[in-house]
Amino acid sequence: MVMAVSLQARCVFLGAPGAGKGTQAKRVAAAASVAHISTGDMLRQEVAAGTPLGRAAKEFMDAGKLVPDEVIISMVQERIRQPDARAAWILDGFPRTLPQAEALDRNLPREAALTHVIYFAVPEAALVGRLSGRRSCSRCGAIWHVEHQPTRREGICDRCDGELLQRSDDRPEAIGKRLEVYRSQTAPLLAYYRDHQVLREVDANRPPDVVYQELLKLMQ
Ligand code: AP5
Repeated sequence: MVMAVSLQARCVFLGAPGAGKGTQAKRVAAAASVAHISTGDMLRQEVAAGTPLGRAAKEFMDAGKLVPDEVIISMVQERIRQPDARAAWILDGFPRTLPQAEALDRNLPREAALTHVIYFAVPEAALVGRLSGRRSCSRCGAIWHVEHQPTRREGICDRCDGELLQRSDDRPEAIGKRLEVYRSQTAPLLAYYRDHQVLREVDANRPPDVVYQELLKLMQ
């Protein structure tokens, strides 16, 4: 059962691949009825639909590289203008370069500026195990883990009985590249948002329920 909470946050979840941004963003967004804008999920939908954008993005994603800024920025600009994102949203996986962060600042009206940027702190040693054991539901998108968040029946989603799949970028070669890209291109955003005085940090190397409760406190 989802316990309803009230949040009027316009928030970025920032952190390395596997830090738990998607797991928590889905839960907070469902509890608070705010829009969950995941650029990774949006791109995977384009890939699954075989659109030109999806075909172009797949090569970058499978190699663990970032999709070019101009593609991502216009995709997010369009999404954030949708009616469900008018009051509150969680951006999960965006921005992840300085040009993306600057574009977000430029495009938000003053009365709808960012309220929080939450950094999910997890030691790198824990990330590889999280990514290689992750399984995602092909039907409802729920995120599981073979050890940390197992389903009752192996390979089957507890929520909707959908088939669980491993993401193509959760292979060892792609994981290494994604962590390298995070260090060089996304980690510098911590200093950017610290300077803008909106950065908060959550110790995300604890059980998901503990992280969730702390997030609610930080965002309220
Ligand atoms: P994206 O889908 O955004 O991937 P990511 O940022 O690398 O993050 P992940 O989804 O891997 O991790 P997460 O932090 O959401 O962790 P999760 O909750 O799943 O992007 C994919 C690709 O798309 C990019 O590589 C790039 O190519 C492209 N892209 C996307 N956005 C882009 C952008 N803005 N610019 C350019 N390119 C872009 O958890 C991971 C696992 O850990 C799960 O199995 C979960 O069950 C488990 N877990 C979660 N929390 C805990 C916990 N507290 N304890 C133990 N296990 C936990």
